[in-house]
Amino acid sequence: MNGKEPNIKPLCTMEGRVVRGAGRGKKFGMPTANLALAPGTKLPQLGVYAALVFCDGIWYEGVTNVGFQPSVGGLEQITVETHILGLNRDIYGQEIRLELYYFLRDTKSFNSLREVKIQIDQDSQRVVELLADIFLMRRSDWMKFSANGTCSTEQGDK
Ligand SMILES: Cc1cc2nc3c(=O)[nH]c(=O)nc-3n(C[C@H](O)[C@H](O)[C@H](O)COP(=O)(O)O)c2cc1C
Repeated sequence: MNGKEPNIKPLCTMEGRVVRGAGRGKKFGMPTANLALAPGTKLPQLGVYAALVFCDGIWYEGVTNVGFQPSVGGLEQITVETHILGLNRDIYGQEIRLELYYFLRDTKSFNSLREVKIQIDQDSQRVVELLADIFLMRRSDWMKFSANGTCSTEQGDK
């Protein structure tokens, strides 16, 4: 851990249903989950974050963009969009919980979706490095709770 305590408390937590985006990411091998935001949902500072995602009963690491999609002309609507590491199936309609732990960067304007994908791959590597300890803790907490039969998305609020 290099003498550095993990930052256990998320900067921000959001829950909601996964809705369809325009689907461009999937075609580029970069599937993303768009969170439906309830009106009035409090958002953190816009940008890209290292996240943990509770989805379909399992914790995953993820990288989340909170904001616009300037590279594809998406300048009107703020979206909360997550690339979930190791999840390659459709989860439309499912409720997920997002925990944002570290701000990684500002959302930038790239010349193509290919460049966005290269950047997201780099972001994902940072997520794995940054969240290794928290991810392990989350997963082992979750396994203990599931073994007790009391697993819920609220289990980690301590
Ligand atoms: C982790 C993450 C980071 C992103 N960063 C940027 C970015 O810096 N600039 C940008 O224009 N779009 C960014 N996007 C949005 C992508 O442009 C978007 O995922 C892509 O256009 C596909 O969207 P669609 O699947 O809704 O069509 C990001 C998306 C994710 C999930």
